[in-house]
Amino acid sequence: MRSVIDIVDLSTEELDDLIKVARDIIANPDKYAHVCDRKKLATLFFEPSTRTRLSFEAAMYELGGHVISVPDAGSSSASKGESVSDTARVVSCYADIIAMRHPKEGAAFVAASKATVPVINAGDGGHCHPTQTLADLLTIELEKNRLGNLTVGFCGDLKFGRTVHSLINALSRYEGNKFVLISPEELKLPSYVKKDAIKSKGIPYEQTTNLEEAMPKLDILYMTRVQRERFFNEEDYLRLKDSYILTPEKLRKAKPDLAILHPLPRVNEISVAVDDDPRACYFKQVENGKYMRMALILKLLKEAGTL
Ligand code: NCD
Repeated sequence: MRSVIDIVDLSTEELDDLIKVARDIIANPDKYAHVCDRKKLATLFFEPSTRTRLSFEAAMYELGGHVISVPDAGSSSASKGESVSDTARVVSCYADIIAMRHPKEGAAFVAASKATVPVINAGDGGHCHPTQTLADLLTIELEKNRLGNLTVGFCGDLKFGRTVHSLINALSRYEGNKFVLISPEELKLPSYVKKDAIKSKGIPYEQTTNLEEAMPKLDILYMTRVQRERFFNEEDYLRLKDSYILTPEKLRKAKPDLAILHPLPRVNEISVAVDDDPRACYFKQVENGKYMRMALILKLLKEAGTL
């Protein structure tokens, strides 16, 4: 059964195809309004979420399908001690496809190994978040008309930020990209991501703590929140949480066609004064996430023989 746990589960060709389908959905929504009639998506979110969960649910509704869900871990059998694999098997009896978010790295992988329907990882701990990457890729494509030959700055919590790990993995496959990794020392990109997605592919990159210095060369700036829930102590979080705050002043030296992305939720890292700047793309990114999730649900249901 084909599931999507990590962005590496999708080939570059498949990423390009999903973007093509998402573009077609945007242009012809009526064509897709009933393709999933009577099909069910189960959303199992064992960690807080607004966007990702609603985005999956809206995606399924816009395809004509239905959604069943447990609202949180506390109200599901997980609170009685049920294992992720049992939950996955049980939910497979009710749903045609599952989207799962879990605080533990690897949980979606375990779920997929026991589920009899496709499982989509909607974020597993500090590991990865492939469908956010799909949203990010469509946004970059729509803004820049390309996914290669870009200088991409990742700024903030590169250690725990699962969206960063997945996006670096995806963008490292397109020719001509360069990365600028901007973070405090303590929140640097994990060495396994750097090794697998950057160094082994010979991708040019630099690491810095200084956002303003990096700004003029960037085509994309991917801002992230410091991931409070993954810190071992509150003191470290408080010390690091405001390491970077993007303001209109800091954007003065940026390219006129920079695209500013953020997976959201934003805490302090982008001042609201930036929202009116035409370079701010983070709310468009939210909408793009829905179209890419529609494309992915369609693809996996077709491959499972359900459609
Ligand atoms: C991200 C996540 O959950 O990793 N949010 C999202 O899905 N859009 C980013 C974050 O929580 O900081």
